[in-house]
Amino acid sequence: MDKLQIVGGKRLDGDITISGAKNAALPILCAGLLTAGDLVLTNVPHLHDVKTMLKLLAQTGLAVKQEGETVTLNGAAIDTLEAPYELVKTMRASILVLGPLLARFGQAKVSLPGGCAIGSRPVDQHIKGLEALGAEITIEGGYIYAKCAKLKGASIRTEMITVTGTENLLMAATLADGETILENAAQEPEVTDLANLLVAMGAKIDGIGTGRLVIQGVAALHGASHAVISDRIEAATFLCAVAATGGDILLRNTRTDIMDAALDKLRDIGLVMEVGADTIRATMNGRPRPVSFSTTEYPGFPTDMQAQFMAVNTIAGGASRVTETIFENRFMHVQEMNRLGAAIRIDGNTASISGVARLRGAPVMATDLRASASLVIAAMAADGTTIIDRIYHLDRGYDRMEVKLSAVGADIVRLQ
Ligand code: EPZ
Repeated sequence: MDKLQIVGGKRLDGDITISGAKNAALPILCAGLLTAGDLVLTNVPHLHDVKTMLKLLAQTGLAVKQEGETVTLNGAAIDTLEAPYELVKTMRASILVLGPLLARFGQAKVSLPGGCAIGSRPVDQHIKGLEALGAEITIEGGYIYAKCAKLKGASIRTEMITVTGTENLLMAATLADGETILENAAQEPEVTDLANLLVAMGAKIDGIGTGRLVIQGVAALHGASHAVISDRIEAATFLCAVAATGGDILLRNTRTDIMDAALDKLRDIGLVMEVGADTIRATMNGRPRPVSFSTTEYPGFPTDMQAQFMAVNTIAGGASRVTETIFENRFMHVQEMNRLGAAIRIDGNTASISGVARLRGAPVMATDLRASASLVIAAMAADGTTIIDRIYHLDRGYDRMEVKLSAVGADIVRLQ
C-alpha cells in the first residue's frame, strides 16, 4: 500500500497545471451509454476513479479508447446492461450508469453502492426519480433491478439537492417521452458541464445552471466532442497548500468563474491573488488568518473543500469554526490532524479550531479523498517528517499530486 513521505517547511514556488474535473468526467463518461455515435472527450484527468469508470463502461460493451487525456467512446455495441458489485463497491459514482442504461435500453441491473467513510450516502432519490419516470424498480441481493419499455417525462422534485441524483435523472430524461421538470436540481458546475455535453449530443434542456431543469425528450442522441471543465476542487486544494506553506504559485488551465466561494475565503485567509480567465497567480506571506464557514450546495462553500481549509485553519492566527451540512461524517481528518499537533474539537457537525504556531510531523492515515488532500497540506506546513498511509484514497481524485507539488518545491516522496 503506497505511502507519502513529506518533510514540511518548504515554500511553494512555480507553475501548476490543473487537470480536468473528476466530478464532471465521471457523469460525462456515462453519457457515452446514451448514444450509438462517437463521443470524443478531451481534458479527461488521469485518475483512479476514471480508470474504474472506463473499466465499468467497457464491460457493458461500450467501445473505449484512451490516448493521453482524450477518451473516445462508442455505444453502438452495448450488450451487457449491468454494473457488477466488484466495480461498484470501489466507486459510488458507478450509480451513474443506471439512468442512461434504463433510458436507452429499457433495463439495467446495478449494484447498490455501499456506504463510504463520509456517510451512508443512500441513492433513494435516484430510485424515486426513475420510478416517477415510469421505471419499475426492485432491490434484491444488493442489486437494483430497473426496467421500463419507454420512460415517460414527469415533474420531479428531489427531497434534497443531490449532484449525482440530478445527473442520473437528467440523463434519463433526455430520452424519455415528453417533458421532464427537475426541481431542486443541483447547480454544481459539473452538472452544467454534463448538461452542455448532452445538448451538444442533441438533447433539449432548458434552465441549465439553475435549480430547475426542463427537458424535452428526444428519440435518440448523436455523438459529440467535448472538453471536460477544469477541476475547481483541485485548483482550490493547491491554493490552500500555498496559503499554508507560503510561496508564490501560478495555476494554469483553471476555470476561475466557478470558484467564487473558495476564492473569497482564501482572500480572507490573506492569500493575494491575481485572477485571470484561466490562470490564478497566488502569493502568500506571513501566517494565515482563520476563516469560519458552513458547507452548502453550489454556489455556496463546497463540502469538497472543507477538509483542505481546515488544514489551513490549524496553523492560523486565531480561532475558527467549520460546519459540515452535506455529509454526516466528513470530519475523519480531524483526529489525524490532531496527531500532527492541531487543536480541533468536534461538537456535532461543527469543528472548533484553535490555531497553533506550528504542527509537528507524525505518521497519519488517509481515510477518504479530500481528507487525504488535507493531510498533505498539513504535513507540508508541519515541522519535520510526516508519513501518510493509505494514499490510494488520494489517487482516486488527484492526478499525481506529489509530482505536481514536488515540481514547485515541496519535499514529498511516494513510498511503494
Ligand atoms: C457528489 O456526490 C460528488 N461526487 C461528491 O464529491 C460531493 O461531495 C457531493 O456531490 C456533494 O457536492 C461526484 O460528483 C462523483 P449528493 P453525491 O447526492 O452526488 C444525500 C469528492 O470528494 N442523498 O449531492 O453522491 C447524501 O447522503 C466527492 O469528489 C440522499 O440522502 O452527493 C448527502 O448527504 C465526495 N439520497 C447529500 O444528499 C440520495 O438519493 C448530498 O449528496 C442522494 C443523496
